[in-house]
Amino acid sequence: MSTEMSTDANVKVVGDIEFPPRKVWIKTYGCQMNYHDTERIVSHLEGLNFSLTEEKDDADLMIFNTCAIRDLANQKFYSHLGNTKHQKKQREVKVAAAGCIAQTESKELLKKYPQLDFAFGTDVIDNVGELVYRAYAGDKKFAVTSWDRSDNYSIETKISHGSPQAFVNIIKGCDKFCSYCIVPFTRGREKSRTITEIVNDTARLVAHQGVQEVTLLGQNVNSFGKKNGESLAELIMELEKIEGLELIRYTTSHPYDISDELIEVHGKSKKLANHLHLPVQSGSNTVLQRMLRQYSIEHYLERLDRLREANPNIVISTDIIAGFPNETEQEHRDTLKLLDKARYDFIYSYNFSSRPGTKAARMKDILTKDVRGRRLREIQAHQLEIQAEVRQEMVGKTYRVLVEGKGFMKGQTKWKGRTSCYRIVHFEGETHESDYQWHWVDLKVTSATALSCQGEIVKDYGRRQGPH
Ligand code: SAH
Ligand code: SF4
Ligand code: F3S
Repeated sequence: MSTEMSTDANVKVVGDIEFPPRKVWIKTYGCQMNYHDTERIVSHLEGLNFSLTEEKDDADLMIFNTCAIRDLANQKFYSHLGNTKHQKKQREVKVAAAGCIAQTESKELLKKYPQLDFAFGTDVIDNVGELVYRAYAGDKKFAVTSWDRSDNYSIETKISHGSPQAFVNIIKGCDKFCSYCIVPFTRGREKSRTITEIVNDTARLVAHQGVQEVTLLGQNVNSFGKKNGESLAELIMELEKIEGLELIRYTTSHPYDISDELIEVHGKSKKLANHLHLPVQSGSNTVLQRMLRQYSIEHYLERLDRLREANPNIVISTDIIAGFPNETEQEHRDTLKLLDKARYDFIYSYNFSSRPGTKAARMKDILTKDVRGRRLREIQAHQLEIQAEVRQEMVGKTYRVLVEGKGFMKGQTKWKGRTSCYRIVHFEGETHESDYQWHWVDLKVTSATALSCQGEIVKDYGRRQGPH
């Protein structure tokens, strides 16, 4: 499509359509992958003269970037989409569904919701410009959800903010097919970018967009490069060489694929964060088998021990599913015991939600909603006790943080920064006027509870100097 400016300086002509300045509003649900996809959508739509608005009522185009991981995520989206009926009545606005629900349900959605103009899946995010063009060219009620079948893929990271923190996609899709999970159906098979491309892309972000911290993203980043003979460990060591890049994070990991080589990198890398999110899902081997997770608790704990040996400062967090079909009381107690052994810094925990098309959805299940709810509450309460102890160990220690902005803490507005180990620490500035946005500072932790942490400023390094 050719782009040129029309006689009205604000109007862009693309193909044979005029695009006056318009506003796009995007509601994002789900994981970091989806948030990152939203950034890509915004950046592509700038080419069609769209700018982002936070105000639904100002929008010319509304996009819902959806998540299907648990039923609650679906229900939220259906209800929000239902409400757009009113917006449609009041003014000229186009409505689109994107992301994981759109990937698998777009035809049904288009049929059920007359206000929905078009839908597109997770693998055509980078074609959003063409799709929006089609919608403005008069095409109605269309869905594009095709898969790219190759083993690798190539993109350029798009960021539309001025922050030094950026997400960089390195692998998409998932081949694991855990029995409860919808992701392999909504994101397709694993495909990786190449190390060369990611290193060049990241070096560009660092040199030209002021990026200092990257989070390497994927549903299962440990499988990165497997299909082209490359690995996450190699990628990290290559990224490490980029001057001006200060901190490297990656998420999410699968315990089965945490290799010895990667553990070694946690010991020797100077830029890799002191944090690893390693979802365990359950503390019971029999439940793990029913989940098709491919590892035992013994293997998982051995990996944790090795990681902690390699980097004694590493902090671990996890995901847990409470009340998997037919989970016994003993199996549930095994998860509580695991919390004692693993001593996580935080957990994301959820009740099992049956997802259409998955193996677990076909399992006969005797658990009631009450039992599931009670088990989830027990897991969360137990973790909070452990978390309070784990966080208490921070008191008196000094941490280098990147200041992310201001936050509301104990009734006061304070600055907040994130440690390499992913904890937020709140602090007051030296004076009321001091501005610490995106500074690296050393903070001495003065108090810490399970959910919050306070510190005082020891040294301000300004904007550039990183943690190492
Ligand atoms: N790729 C990541 C996680 C993807 S989904 C991994 O393998 O760990 C994020 C989390 O949602 C999962 O770790 C799991 O704890 C939870 N989850 C996934 N499917 C779920 C379901 N059907 N019900 C409840 N929680 C689920
Ligand atoms: Fe889902 Fe399992 Fe893949 Fe994670 S590894 S995305 S839980 S199928
Ligand atoms: Fe949800 Fe899709 Fe992410 S289902 S958790 S948005 S990969």
